[in-house]
Amino acid sequence: MNVNKFQQDLVTWYEAEKRDLPWRRERDPYKIWVSEIMLQQTRVDTVIPFFHRFMEQFPTVESLAYADEEAVMKAWEGLGYYSRARNLQSAVREVAESYGGTVPADKDEFLSLKGVGPYTGGAVLSIAYGLPEPAVDGNVMRVMSRLLALWDDIAKPASRKVFEQAVRHVMYEKDPSSFNQALMELGATVCTPTSPACLLCPVQNHCEAFEQGVQRELPVKTKK
Ligand code: ADE
Repeated sequence: MNVNKFQQDLVTWYEAEKRDLPWRRERDPYKIWVSEIMLQQTRVDTVIPFFHRFMEQFPTVESLAYADEEAVMKAWEGLGYYSRARNLQSAVREVAESYGGTVPADKDEFLSLKGVGPYTGGAVLSIAYGLPEPAVDGNVMRVMSRLLALWDDIAKPASRKVFEQAVRHVMYEKDPSSFNQALMELGATVCTPTSPACLLCPVQNHCEAFEQGVQRELPVKTKK
């Protein structure tokens, strides 16, 4: 693939077509972080009103750090997976106490916080701080498996590293924020699981799976 041309086609499409989502109007790392935690197990449409309310109630690191746990749980009601909220508050407390309220831009520091795994880490560091880190979730694995015709089983934990390397290989260093969000957006709106809209795809001519006609066979995902 011509990596430069691919990056241009993908990011240009993203800038023109991206959905106007509330966290995309933000640059505050704290707000990006909250959005990514909410989006991990919950659909975009469901998250939107919760994100707005949460930001009104807890607009800063300090406001969440020093809030009553019960108030936080109440605000999370309807999103489910409450351990996300408990871990988030405990991590935000650590940010308030050990980092003076500034979300760390250092990868090791940020990843050491409770509930911050490789996906959340990559998403926040790239979107909020512009660092060229991959943010690999299921959507991005699907997109990358097709783009480069990677047959690694996405259900296997060991495959994450393969997909992270693949993203590093094509990373648009000038704008990692737009680039990672463009991969997510492509996975959410075009390169969908069962019937990818290849005829509408902005990077069809860079896609190895399309070239080989195997887009419906990828990604490989065995049952766990
Ligand atoms: N899913 C995970 N992160 C997302 C984001 N930043 N925008 C839209 N959908 C997402």
